[in-house]
Amino acid sequence: MKNARANAAKDLYKQLRRLTWEELWGKLVTDFNNADQVSRSQNAGLVRAVGVVFSESGPQSRLNEVASWLRSLLKDSDEKIRRYAMAALPKIGTGSADEEALIELLLKSNPPEREKKYVARALDKIGGKATLELAEELPAQTALKVKASMAREESPSGILLNEVVPVFSGLRIHLRCRRGLESFVRQEMQASPQAGRLFEFKDSRPGLVELVPRCAFTLSDLLSLRCFATLALVLGTIPKPDAREIAEMITASPVRGLFKKLTQGAIRYRLEFPSLGHQRGLVRDIANRAYAMCPDILNDARSAPWAVEVHPHGRHFTVELRPRLSPDPRFSYRRLDVPAASHPPLAACMARLAEDSGRDVVWDPFCGSGLELIERGLLGGVVKLLGSDQSAAAIDISKSNLAASGLRVKTDFFHGDFRNAGVAPNSISQIITNPPMGRRVPIPNLAGLIGDLFQTAARVLQPGGVLVFANPLSTRLSDLRLKLDIRQRIDLGGFDVHLERYIKIHR
Ligand SMILES: C[S@@+](CC[C@H](N)C(=O)[O-])C[C@H]1O[C@@H](n2cnc3c(N)ncnc32)[C@H](O)[C@@H]1O
Repeated sequence: MKNARANAAKDLYKQLRRLTWEELWGKLVTDFNNADQVSRSQNAGLVRAVGVVFSESGPQSRLNEVASWLRSLLKDSDEKIRRYAMAALPKIGTGSADEEALIELLLKSNPPEREKKYVARALDKIGGKATLELAEELPAQTALKVKASMAREESPSGILLNEVVPVFSGLRIHLRCRRGLESFVRQEMQASPQAGRLFEFKDSRPGLVELVPRCAFTLSDLLSLRCFATLALVLGTIPKPDAREIAEMITASPVRGLFKKLTQGAIRYRLEFPSLGHQRGLVRDIANRAYAMCPDILNDARSAPWAVEVHPHGRHFTVELRPRLSPDPRFSYRRLDVPAASHPPLAACMARLAEDSGRDVVWDPFCGSGLELIERGLLGGVVKLLGSDQSAAAIDISKSNLAASGLRVKTDFFHGDFRNAGVAPNSISQIITNPPMGRRVPIPNLAGLIGDLFQTAARVLQPGGVLVFANPLSTRLSDLRLKLDIRQRIDLGGFDVHLERYIKIHR
């Protein structure tokens, strides 16, 4: 019987949910208001539908009217109507009047525990100072959520990249990269006079390079490296994801010092379990425990400057603190994108694989948004960058990204098929390219396209010149003029290709 009633209410809600705002707010709401309590209760789904439909397409001019109707329903004698009104208010968002009405409900009518929970849930979303003052009446989670959202609105937090990281004993750094690129990350670090002095290579496993600091450093020092994707400071290792241990790690004194020193504004972090999915219960438990231990460190899923991530690491798990840098300051030239744009750190690895002969003329036949060209240009030793792409939009995007990169180097772009770009034989010293892979956009004859790229490279490269490209074919390419020099299997974001370097031999 109870189930049948619940299903009928759900069905009614689904029907109402499909109506337009005008259809709901006209006769239906008037009838609801004038109905007796029994039929109001049967039509409680209307309250829920009004909240959802208004939040999606309601006119702002009716906001106050709708909010005031919902607030009046907080006093309804039917629990379900009150509950739906509570859920709808945060969706439409009018602010302190709603907060006051919810607090009044909590204090004056002393609702049962179950209803208190719903009030708290609504206050989680719209509560402010008045809610914080009531902290004792509400679950700790409400105070945490309200504090975090007030902090977020008052002053956006950020990461202080140039502050010296307070190094604590055992601190390690994890640089994550696409699988197969670990040796690039390691070599770039060791070859860099600045990073090589500050960090020591410790270990490497697929998709990860571990460093230890030799002395004081800043996050900017790490961001002088371009081949890794994300960086994180390892707070510790645990046998399995356990709420108490993780909360203790986040709030341990050295970590608090680290948060304090490197955060501008309120300290807010998001919890992530990249290999385990959402873990909502665990997140709530860790967040509440950490808040109880240190109320200045706030869990906040929205635009938090830090992520605390729990990663599998051999038979254990590491708890890591990752600055959420979006956009990544290393690639801030990337103003615009093409649909199949390269992963910027991969472009940086490819540029390094090509090396710098001092006076390079570099061509990317499939330049897209221009990342390989720009990364190669930033390494120096380039006299000219050439880009071709059959998409006019891609050429424009390449040009604007190049301009944003601040590179002062001669450039030339060709809009059309790379085979018609009119590049002269023996005129190019480096071809660096990430060709279409046929994944997102189907390519009718991928083998033919890659074969043509190979033949073209053999013709236009100068003796000693290099072709560096991500090869999507599993068959080996062959041309007597090009010698395979390096071949590395890499993950291109869910599928593997080979990153290859060929050298044009003297003939
Ligand atoms: C994988 S994307 C390149 C991404 C690029 N490296 C970047 O940084 O954004 C491949 C590009 O090749 C272009 N393309 C496909 N076939 C082509 C052809 N025959 N000639 C020239 N460009 C082509 C597409 O328009 C696309 O922009």
